[in-house]
Amino acid sequence: MSAIPVYIHDDGEGPAVVFLHAFPMDAGMWDPQVAQLHTDFRCLRPEFWGCGESPLPADDHSLDDFAAVVLRQLAALGVQRFAVVGLSMGGYAAFALLRQARERVSHLVLASTRSEADASQARASRQALMDWVRRDGVEAIAGSMRQRQLSPVALANPSLVARLREITARCTPQGVIACLEAMSVRPDSTAELGAIGVPTHVIAGGADVVTPAAEMRSMAGAIPNARFSLIADVGHFVNLEAPDQFNGFLKELLEPSR
Ligand code: MLT
Repeated sequence: MSAIPVYIHDDGEGPAVVFLHAFPMDAGMWDPQVAQLHTDFRCLRPEFWGCGESPLPADDHSLDDFAAVVLRQLAALGVQRFAVVGLSMGGYAAFALLRQARERVSHLVLASTRSEADASQARASRQALMDWVRRDGVEAIAGSMRQRQLSPVALANPSLVARLREITARCTPQGVIACLEAMSVRPDSTAELGAIGVPTHVIAGGADVVTPAAEMRSMAGAIPNARFSLIADVGHFVNLEAPDQFNGFLKELLEPSR
């Protein structure tokens, strides 16, 4: 397991909330949440190797390696117990955190994600994406992915598209390849859903074709007492396309812990 620390953005004071980013993204995707929550919560945003401020990956890193390093670094920062907010790849990382330290997690938000492992077709697509990144660079694949990730309304919003491009530009080719590798070997977490014993909110975008709302609803149904919300007409990045609604959900879940 890699011992190289990752970079963790650390803003605000109060009960700790760990935000786990999607692919191919970095902690900047959570700026609209941190802008509102940092006055009442300590917002911690680790970045996967090769993304944002984190160092380049030294070797193959699984999402479980990432979770182990994050857990160790959080403890070193004095953060023992925390809420977890994970979107898409960040949700996969959230499952890895739960597997290793369920007792340290106080609340959980799973947005635009799934508990299943990759099927063989998805693994093959990831290999093709890795080849594409090696050949043409990060923006080539990120630009193409955005067409599926964003709703039609968001795609027509130049400032949101520019913001996503900026975030993606902070991901290195090595980081993107490491994320793809890590996602393709992640274990299936479906059998563990029933053991999630913390207040959980599952949030889906009604126009998300990457992680369709019906799949998210069924995942929520397998988590004891989980709340499920569908934000109509928004795509995969629900927190960026509907920040006010998303932040409202976070506050509703987290406020009682203050
Ligand atoms: C993400 O947004 O993190 C990706 O769509 C996840 C994936 O490729 O499985």
